Amino acid sequence: MWRNTDESYGWVTILFHWAIAILFLCQIPLGYLTQATENRPALQFELYQWHKSIGFLVLALAVPRLIWVLLTVKPRPLPKTTRLEAIAARTAHLVLLLLTVLVPLAGWAVASASPLRIPSYVFNLVVIPPLPFTPSERQEIFWSNVHAVLAYGGGMIALVHILAALRHHILLRDATLIRMLRPHRD
Ligand code: HEM
Ligand code: HEM
Repeated sequence: MWRNTDESYGWVTILFHWAIAILFLCQIPLGYLTQATENRPALQFELYQWHKSIGFLVLALAVPRLIWVLLTVKPRPLPKTTRLEAIAARTAHLVLLLLTVLVPLAGWAVASASPLRIPSYVFNLVVIPPLPFTPSERQEIFWSNVHAVLAYGGGMIALVHILAALRHHILLRDATLIRMLRPHRD
């Protein structure tokens, strides 16, 4: 039930998947809004704090998830999956897994390189210290571009991934989506 088997995803994989997927997808419009509210500084500050808090939560979930994925078995592709489809799915999953770690790390780098040195309060509970960077505008712009490219790139890969899952469910009518929603009962 909790662990994956050759046939089925277990609850640990399923809960990690949906928690991180939902938070990651919310972070993209939220990150965009932090940029679109420059003329409303109080609102922009609030949005930044939420964006940073949720981003650190993604990082805190994505690191143990990555370790979990490395330690656990992956269910076999369903029958009728072509070799090319299996390779494409595996590659997309690997890239998405890495981006759920790298995007928040790049965001942390933006906040750490910023000469404004605004502290990162996570849900008003803890302060996360900056990474050991010398703050400068050049560094901030560099990391801001890395963060934006990785985040929007990840969003686009996630969109293809979601469309592929829906294609399996609606057109091919197989168990791809269902087995990411609940473990198979033996
Ligand atoms: C799942 C994690 C995250 C996602 C998907 C994400 C996504 C985004 C996106 C789409 C933008 C707008 C970029 C633009 O239009 O220029 C943005 C901006 C920003 N994010 Fe994140 N972010 C994440 C985590 C974080 C974290 C953990 C931090 C900081 C601790 C952070 C700090 C920032 C900052 C400072 C900006 C505005 C600066 C800029 O990029 O120009 N982000 N984020
Ligand atoms: C509504 C949104 C989503 C749906 C319907 C969905 C659906 C699925 C399904 C059905 C699988 C199993 C595929 C298989 O067995 O071959 C899967 C796996 C996976 N998905 Fe998603 N997904 C969504 C969003 C996301 C997002 C936003 C991310 C990452 C940012 C993501 C990352 C992954 C990863 C890494 C796997 C591999 C399984 C694992 O190791 O956890 N998914 N997804």
